[in-house]
Amino acid sequence: MARERPVAVHLAPALVCGDRLRGRVAVVIDVLRATTTIVHALAAGCRAVRPCLEIAEARELASTLPADSRLLGGERDGKPLDGFDLGNSPGEYTARRCRGKTLVLTTTNGTRALRLAAAADRVLVAAFVNFSAVCEQLLTDPRPIDIVCAGHQGGVALEDTLLAGALVDHLAEAGASLNDGARLAWDCFEQHGRVLDGALAVGEGGVGLKTLGYDEDIRAAARIDQFALVPEMRHDPLRLEVAGVGIGRRRWRG
Ligand code: MLT
Repeated sequence: MARERPVAVHLAPALVCGDRLRGRVAVVIDVLRATTTIVHALAAGCRAVRPCLEIAEARELASTLPADSRLLGGERDGKPLDGFDLGNSPGEYTARRCRGKTLVLTTTNGTRALRLAAAADRVLVAAFVNFSAVCEQLLTDPRPIDIVCAGHQGGVALEDTLLAGALVDHLAEAGASLNDGARLAWDCFEQHGRVLDGALAVGEGGVGLKTLGYDEDIRAAARIDQFALVPEMRHDPLRLEVAGVGIGRRRWRG
């Protein structure tokens, strides 16, 4: 009998131990809003996204790029940053603003999770908006999979867990050995997958965004398969670019 593929979910970045990701495919999730925004930015024509940990690092990196070919975006505590071109709302990343640009991005949790995942053999970026495209990339890659949820303020985020569970639901069909995080995420998907908009709005991240008036960002994050592209990490310099494009069929079973 063929060995089942290991699929692990880390419900928060702090649960990724040591050099655990080496030799694996990492899938990074920050539904509200970093990974949703990254998919939007690349779909709108950004050439690449450069994830930065700190605001100063992002400013410094942006200053080394030609002014007409860069965008500086991000947030802290959900709010846009002084002197930045854009915040972290997916809808801000339009074709007019993005075409041909490199986006230098720093966010509270999402870009941190991406930098942590850089140790993996391959790193993909997932959101509900590119769900089926991510599923299809994973089905054609035989390596063990580690799904890393960016979470909320160091802890677990409902919306990231839900998407991780939807991916597990899909991967389990082809046979997978799951860690307990994956089982918990799968249960979360079974419980909330059918009421996605509602679930995204009641989690702590969603409540915080509503308080700031970003209700539309929550709706945008729940648009399953709006795009058929998968951002993938490249190195030297570290960046995200469009890798896989296209969906054979819709994989969502919520
Ligand atoms: C993050 O990286 O923490 C976020 O995407 C938060 C946000 O956009 O509000």
